[in-house]
Amino acid sequence: MFKLEEVSDLSCSETDKLYRDFVNTPLAAIFKILGLTPFDYTHASGSFIYLKNGKKILDYSSSCGVLNLGHNHIEIKAAEQYCLDNDLVDMLKFGNHKLQAVLAHNLAELLPGELNTSFFSVSGAEANEAALKLAARAQSKEKKYYIRTVGSFHGKTHGILPFTESENFSTGFHVGIDPSSVLTVPFNDLPALMKVTEQYKDQIIAIIVEPIQGQDISTPTTGYLNQLVKLCKEQKILSIFDEIKVGLFRCGSLFSFMNEDNATPDILTVSKSLGGGRRAISAMITSSKIYKKAYGKKMDSTLHSSTFSGVGSSCAVAIKTLEILDRKDFQDQVKENELYFLEGLNKLKAKYPDKIIEVRGQGMYLGLKLRFPSSGMKKINLPFSGKFEIACMGSVIRELFKTYGILTFFTGAAPDVLHIMPPLTTNKVELDYFIESMDQLLGDNFYKLFKRFVEGTLF
Ligand SMILES: Cc1ncc(COP(=O)(O)O)c(C=O)c1O
Repeated sequence: MFKLEEVSDLSCSETDKLYRDFVNTPLAAIFKILGLTPFDYTHASGSFIYLKNGKKILDYSSSCGVLNLGHNHIEIKAAEQYCLDNDLVDMLKFGNHKLQAVLAHNLAELLPGELNTSFFSVSGAEANEAALKLAARAQSKEKKYYIRTVGSFHGKTHGILPFTESENFSTGFHVGIDPSSVLTVPFNDLPALMKVTEQYKDQIIAIIVEPIQGQDISTPTTGYLNQLVKLCKEQKILSIFDEIKVGLFRCGSLFSFMNEDNATPDILTVSKSLGGGRRAISAMITSSKIYKKAYGKKMDSTLHSSTFSGVGSSCAVAIKTLEILDRKDFQDQVKENELYFLEGLNKLKAKYPDKIIEVRGQGMYLGLKLRFPSSGMKKINLPFSGKFEIACMGSVIRELFKTYGILTFFTGAAPDVLHIMPPLTTNKVELDYFIESMDQLLGDNFYKLFKRFVEGTLF
């Protein structure tokens, strides 16, 4: 049995072995291929993960959207410390929880429209499941259909899996909602949505949409979200916006649907950065009217509940996170940096038009859609996955990490898009470093990069 105090002293190879033997063998193998092993880190702060050898890694992955405030933000740590120092009540299942009540109040104050009632949980998938269950209860029993969009990602638990379209994570599982009840429309396509809502008139419970799709970083055209909300109101369909990845000031506003006027959904789901990068917490937020329809009777008040829904210290951290994000000077600084970064990436695109097809995204969630050479390299036995593009993107991720000390990521659904999620607390020096490094990497020949990747992983 290891003692807690021994964890920091674990060597990289010991950790690798433990992870392989006791956590996830194939994932450990993929980390190795991507050059993320050895990753001999000691601690993390702000945009950086510090290594034992004195070097540091610029973490522009933000752990897929968890680290909007960076690693171990000083005020988030202080919020946790405040809970510890005052022995605040962390768990209370019987009696009104003060921290939950305040967090729900503050969310309602920051959100537009009637979004004023929160249900808390731990993960994003749970928040989405809560949304779907609420929608079903709030609608008439005759309705049986839901709508999802092409390329969506809403989580991987049984209940939410049928709504994740981007990759086939469902095969081999007995998914909760009958897939034949889930209709699929293209993202950002109002005519297609109108057609489906006409075809299934009065039978649709809800539509679930990411206002900016995270798997391939798809941004809708202006007007899509408010027209969608309007159509849903007309057709009595509940609109659910999943802002688990793109919310909390990641994409230009507190929530990305707020980039448009009159685009407030009936139900909003939030998670990831709500916990300030230190706690697991999610929220499903709706109007008191809809909540009442679903669970208004006393006997139904715990019809949907969970033991760890709104642990005190997680709520405390979330309260602090919202306070930080709501500061005008913080927001001004983020906006300035967003423009600076976008300009830098667009300059790279202009310099390397043959390699960068598009700069995608909004705010501080940007992506580079890369063009990989399509011939001459296909005969190589690819190190993982049959997909040629995944191996190409793997070589970019590996090079960024190993040569430049930068952590980024990509998704299997869109393997040609490099995802860049700097913490919102990043600064111009760090952004410059990223742009300069990317400039050097793109100046390199992709064939050479790929060759180094194959040699570095296979031999
Ligand atoms: C948009 C979106 N929704 C839902 C989820 C699921 O969240 P979790 O992994 O916490 O269950 C994710 C996770 O990446 C996400 O990006």
